[in-house]
Amino acid sequence: MTTLLAFSGSLRAASFNSRVIRALPGLAPAGVDIVQFDVTDLPFYNQDLDGETVPEVVAALRAAVAEADGVVIASPEYNHSYSAVAKNIVDWASRPMMQGPILGKKSMVIAVGPGPGGGKHCLEELGKLLALLGGTVVASVGAAKVHEKFAPESDVIIDAELADALRAGLAAF
Ligand code: FNR
Repeated sequence: MTTLLAFSGSLRAASFNSRVIRALPGLAPAGVDIVQFDVTDLPFYNQDLDGETVPEVVAALRAAVAEADGVVIASPEYNHSYSAVAKNIVDWASRPMMQGPILGKKSMVIAVGPGPGGGKHCLEELGKLLALLGGTVVASVGAAKVHEKFAPESDVIIDAELADALRAGLAAF
């Protein structure tokens, strides 16, 4: 069994990126288990909180990343980059120095939005960040006009191209 830890880098209730994360279990090939990790209560990175003891949610995050075979991060594109929420996940998981559980981890990056750009700048920047931490980005999936790609009021993706790209990304682990 391959376990993938999946994060949304958006905190808003109606987030398209969170909807994509919730759709992943239905798209995963046999043998791939998706574990969703909610970062709503993850504090903003503060080195004063990162000592001998850490907040419970940080300990849980680090343990979950360490146990996972890979991570999936779906981030909104904000100002041609990833969200601060996405960076905060990576920052917490990159410590302790040289021992952070995200170092060297396989990852898949996702960026979707209703605009025409398809999240391409976010994907590029997030991929660079994870590669800088020694990881291998096995898949990168963006989507423009994503509001047209879900069944109404559900997390079911009706756009075959997006669903296939996500399936292929999960299979790439
Ligand atoms: C955006 N948005 C955006 N879209 C884009 O294609 N390129 C960009 O550079 C930006 N920049 C940006 C900055 C800020 C501060 C906000 C609030 C929004 C639009 C954004 O990607 C869109 O609202 C997504 O739907 C947000 O993701 P969630 O919350 O739906 O997952």
